[in-house]
Amino acid sequence: MRISVIGCGYLGAVHAASMAELGHDVVGIDVDQPKIEALSQAKAPFFEPGFEELLARTLATGRLRFSTDFADAAGAAVHFVCVGTPQKRGEYAADMRYVQGAVESLLGVLSAGELVVGKSTVPVGTAAGLADLIEAKVPGALLAWNPEFLREGFAVQDTLHPDRLVYGLPAGADGDTARALLDEVYAPIVERGTPKVESDYATAEMVKTAANSFLATKISFINAMAELCEATGADVKLLADAIGYDDRIGRKFLNAGLGFGGGCLPKDIRAFMARAGELGADQALTFLREVDNINMRRRIRMVELAREVCDGSLLGKRVAVLGAAFKPDSDDIRDSPALNVAAQLQLQGAVVQVTDPAAGDNIRRSWPQLDVVDTAEQAADRADAVLVLTEWKQYRELDPVAFGTLVKQKRVLDGRNALDREAWTAAGWTYRALGRRAG
Ligand code: UDX
Repeated sequence: MRISVIGCGYLGAVHAASMAELGHDVVGIDVDQPKIEALSQAKAPFFEPGFEELLARTLATGRLRFSTDFADAAGAAVHFVCVGTPQKRGEYAADMRYVQGAVESLLGVLSAGELVVGKSTVPVGTAAGLADLIEAKVPGALLAWNPEFLREGFAVQDTLHPDRLVYGLPAGADGDTARALLDEVYAPIVERGTPKVESDYATAEMVKTAANSFLATKISFINAMAELCEATGADVKLLADAIGYDDRIGRKFLNAGLGFGGGCLPKDIRAFMARAGELGADQALTFLREVDNINMRRRIRMVELAREVCDGSLLGKRVAVLGAAFKPDSDDIRDSPALNVAAQLQLQGAVVQVTDPAAGDNIRRSWPQLDVVDTAEQAADRADAVLVLTEWKQYRELDPVAFGTLVKQKRVLDGRNALDREAWTAAGWTYRALGRRAG
C-alpha cells in the first residue's frame, strides 16, 4: 500500500520505518529539513535502540523515503497524522496547532477514497471535528483514530508487535471501508491474532489518555506509599513486591522513586484534566491533580534527602548526578525528574556534575548552565554525594568498591530504587533511597 506519515518525530519516524518494514511504500513528511536529511541518511535524530538498524534496512529496500514537501503525500491510500500535541505554555491544555496544521495541509492533496488516520494523542472530541472538516473539503475521504501506545526505548518493538490495536471508526459503511484499509495496513499484526478494539472516535481518543492516566496513577500510588514508608520506617520495595504478587494489582509500574516524566504522561494527564473541565466533568478527574502533586513532591523530597546527607547544607558540596534522561535507554530530557533535581541542587548552591550515557548533548543544548561530564567516574570525582537518578544499566552495575575510591564521601542516593543496597552498604557507603530506611 502507499502510505504517508505526517510528522517525523518520535512516533512518526518509527511508524514510517515500521510500515515500510511491513512491506508498504512509505513517505514520511516533516517541515524540519535537518530532521528529514538525517532520516534520509539512516541517522536517527533521537536515541532509540534498534531504530537506526530498522531505518537502514527499510531505506535500502527503496520502500521508504522522507520529504519536506506535502505534495509527496498525494496518492497515498492512507495518511497517518503523527505530529506532537505538547502542553500549551502556561496552561494545562494540549496545543493542537500541529494536528490542525497537518490536517489542513493534507486537505490540499487528499482525494476521495483515501483514509486519514490520527495517531497523535488528542483531547476527546478532536476527531469528530476533523472528520467534519475533511467531509466538507474532500467529500469521500475518511478519517479513523488509531492511538499509539509505544514506549520510548521499546518504540520499534511496540510498533511492530503492539499488545492491541484500537480503531476509532466512522459509523456505517464508511466505518467498514476504514476498517478494511486499516486491516490491510496492519495485516501481519492482525493475522497474528493481536486483540483489536473497534469503537467510535471518542472512545478511541479516550483509550490513550485513560491508559496514560492509569499508568501515572499507579506510579503515584506507590510513591504515596513511599511517603508513608518514610514516615513509618517501612520498606516500599518490599511492599511493592508483596502487593504486586496479586494478579489484580501486578508488579509492573510499581517502582517507587523519583516518579514519572517524559513527553507523554505529565502532559497527557494535564490535558485530560483540562478537557474534562471544558466538558463540565472536571470532578471526574480531580484525583489526577493529586497524582501530579505526589509526583512533583518526590523531586523536592530527593533534594531534601541530598541536603540531609550533606550534613544539612548543599552550599559548595560536590554532587554527582548519574542519569538525566527521563528514563533509561532514552536521550529524552523532556520534564525529566532527574534533570529537575540536578537543576534544583545547583540552584541551591551545590556544585553539580551531571552525566548520562545518551542525553549529554540534549542537556548541553537545553540546560547550558549545568556541567555535563562524559562518565560516572568523572562525575564522582571527589563528590560529597552520588545521586543515581535514572536507572541506566551501567549505573545499576557499578562496582561500589571501585567507585568508592573516587569520591570524597561514600554517600549514595538511589533515586530509582535500582541499586543493590546490600552491596553498596557492604562497601562502606551510606545508602539512602526514597521510601526505604537508611542503609
Ligand atoms: C508512556 C506510556 O507507557 C506509553 O504507553 C505511551 O504511549 C507514552 O507514554 P514513555 O513516556 O515512553 O511511555 O515512558 P514509560 O516507560 O511509560 O515511563 C514513564 C515515566 O514513568 C518514566 O519517567 C519512568 O521512569 C516512570 N516510571 C515508570 C516510574 O517512576 N515507575 C515505574 O514503575 C514505571
